[in-house]
Amino acid sequence: PEAITVAELANRMTERVGDVVKALMQNGVMATQNQTIDADTAELIIEEFGHTVTRVSDADVEQVIEQVEDNPEDLKDRAPIITVMGHVDHGKTSLLDAIRNAKVTQGEAGGITQHIGAYQVQTEGGTTLTFLDTPGHAAFTSMRSRGAQVTDIVILVVAADDAVMPQTIEAINHAKAAEVPMIVAINKCDKPDANPTKVRTDLLQHEVVVEEMSGDVQDVEVSAKSGKGLDELLEAIALQSEILELKANPDRAAQGAVIEAKLDVGRGPVATVLVQNGTLRQGDIFVVGEQWGKVRAMENDQGARVKEAGPSVPVEVLGLNGTPEAGDVLNVVSTEAQAREIAEYRQQVAKDKRAAAGAATTLEALMQKA
Ligand code: GTP
Ligand code: MG
Repeated sequence: PEAITVAELANRMTERVGDVVKALMQNGVMATQNQTIDADTAELIIEEFGHTVTRVSDADVEQVIEQVEDNPEDLKDRAPIITVMGHVDHGKTSLLDAIRNAKVTQGEAGGITQHIGAYQVQTEGGTTLTFLDTPGHAAFTSMRSRGAQVTDIVILVVAADDAVMPQTIEAINHAKAAEVPMIVAINKCDKPDANPTKVRTDLLQHEVVVEEMSGDVQDVEVSAKSGKGLDELLEAIALQSEILELKANPDRAAQGAVIEAKLDVGRGPVATVLVQNGTLRQGDIFVVGEQWGKVRAMENDQGARVKEAGPSVPVEVLGLNGTPEAGDVLNVVSTEAQAREIAEYRQQVAKDKRAAAGAATTLEALMQKA
């Protein structure tokens, strides 16, 4: 860290705060326990106490959570991650519900509790699909801005009685910017005023040319209400994911992305994590954004306790020391010391950034006043 409070420095060295304050004083630095001292001063004190100095830098962080390239022979097929997007009320959630109810394996039908905004569906053909029902576009945008590319396929839901609307366009732009293939689901085709052709021509204006219009974007007419077209939609997904040849290495330290996170009164910070590579296990130590933790327990999308989660599997993770943000990347590391150090380093970087931004704003305000 670039700076540290006197109390924290004492804590890290397991020395008494009073002794550290005294040592600082002897070096001409007057500081109380809550005051911050710079890294050079801290280093001096650490050496005086006979400890060794380890400074964390961007490079160190990169090294600890190094993205080792997987050997091709270690890669195994993984489920596609599909995000459903579209304008308000165009039927995103209904469509997902319909897919789940119609296509979940026997015995599970109907009785599924959607604990988290991400869940897996087994198709009759035996393939597994991971769906994300992100509420609105905010989560998706923040994920992208944080560099967490979570989705493999976007299903663009457009209601046939309403055609292309502002949030439809936003969704198109997101998918294009993320370079994620799209499948258009023209929904509400059961309605008497449904006009799928208008949807297709509207989309043309936004450079989405569907197959019906001789383009290469798959389009399917569906109805979440009647169940029409659901099989075709699943086929379209299967076809698209085959093209993508999605693979991951289950035998490595897990890396994932936070889909959502909250502070639960009873359970503490809880994060829904989508594992992207490797396998996340109970007891694993991890950093996630500016937080860190140790997996105390995990629950799958049906609220069942699980001991591990492989690629493309969404799980609720307990055991965090703070609440991360949607889009934060999770990396499993070897030791708690590493995890803590990286998290603290990131917190410090974020704090410095905010301070710099704050200073700039103040300066700007002053200049405007002058
Ligand atoms: P937001 O999450 O608020 O953006 O909405 P949404 O896109 O998830 O839409 P939702 O699934 O909540 O559906 C909105 C309304 O449209 C509900 O009243 C649904 O019953 C209705 N609806 C959804 N799909 C269909 C459909 O295929 N046919 C008909 N007739 N109604 C539908
Ligand atoms: Mg919804």
